[in-house]
Amino acid sequence: MATDNPMRESETPETAPRSGRALVIPRFGGPEVMEVRDLPLPVPQDDEVLVRVHAASVNPVDYKTREGQFPPVGEAQLPAVLGRDLAGTIETFGTRAHYMVRHGDPVFAFIDFDRGAQADYVIVKAIELCAIPDGLDMTTAAAIPLAAMTAWQGLFDHGGLQSGQRVLIHGGAGGVGQFAVQLARWKGAEVFATAGPDDQELLRDFGVDRAIDHTSERFEEIARDVDLVFDLIDGETRARSWGTLRQGGILVSTVSEPDQAEAARHGVRAAPRWLARPNAAQLGEIGDLVANGTVKVRVVQTFPLDQAAAAQQAQAEGHVSGKIVLTLV
Ligand SMILES: NC(=O)c1ccc[n+]([C@@H]2O[C@H](COP(=O)([O-])OP(=O)(O)OC[C@H]3O[C@@H](n4cnc5c(N)ncnc54)[C@H](OP(=O)(O)O)[C@@H]3O)[C@@H](O)[C@H]2O)c1
Repeated sequence: MATDNPMRESETPETAPRSGRALVIPRFGGPEVMEVRDLPLPVPQDDEVLVRVHAASVNPVDYKTREGQFPPVGEAQLPAVLGRDLAGTIETFGTRAHYMVRHGDPVFAFIDFDRGAQADYVIVKAIELCAIPDGLDMTTAAAIPLAAMTAWQGLFDHGGLQSGQRVLIHGGAGGVGQFAVQLARWKGAEVFATAGPDDQELLRDFGVDRAIDHTSERFEEIARDVDLVFDLIDGETRARSWGTLRQGGILVSTVSEPDQAEAARHGVRAAPRWLARPNAAQLGEIGDLVANGTVKVRVVQTFPLDQAAAAQQAQAEGHVSGKIVLTLV
């Protein structure tokens, strides 16, 4: 991004708006608690930028946060703006960000949970954002950060997946799962993945070695001696997964704390509960893989911001074969 930047902190264009819409939860509850409010534009400090958001993806964390089921956002954090990832253009920036960006640069980002992404204007830290690769539209770019980085961090940082290893990915056709199966293939792993009957072809298109229909097949009879189980489902699926691991193999969950005693009983390991974190370097690598066609991004539905309730409902009902995105511009 920019080095010869003509704009400095506080050089907000005369025409810049003073406020923008944001999807706010004033309290925890059902979809009815959500409000689209007009909020004053935040002012970026130091290494922060203000992004004009064009699109922001919908993730299960949105409805979990709204319901009060996402511990990092408690009563003390309310009112809160929902959303964790976005794509947009640089509006303004703080003094220490000027060497990185210029007004109008297209960027995408996964932001920390002290802010919300489903808003017209969002403060993003320079370390959270990355330039959108050439040729990627805003809706596609917005679908990437949280889901793809969860897949990356689960497989590689927590699961230590290596080329030649065998991985079983549960929920391989969902938002995180689609990135996980493609990233595991790119790494050179042998990939087994579970999904419903309608998504078997999709999994094969993404290059999985064995697509498993969780409604008609017993995955534990098909995937054996796996090095890593990447569990995006939990419950009975988790309980039946321990026996698929080779001795010393590891289970990584995105959903809940695995039972360490259960892991020990099976002679395997379980990664402690973790939350995906912003990491611009990882986002850059993922963006390159999308740009060169190694990783495909599947956006199945878009909604305008004022239909966020319908978007969350579609996400919560399940059977999502890809990503749902809110469009703001
Ligand atoms: N720890 C973190 O930082 C983190 C980050 C991101 C996500 N997560 C969590 O990870 C989970 C997955 O997220 P996501 O965005 O991928 O959700 P998603 O888009 O809703 O995907 C879930 C997928 O699982 C499929 N599925 C449901 N039951 C299944 C089963 N028994 N076996 C195999 N597949 C099944 C669903 O399709 P069908 O219903 O058609 O089968 C759907 O395609 C959520 O609980 C989310 O909150 C955690």
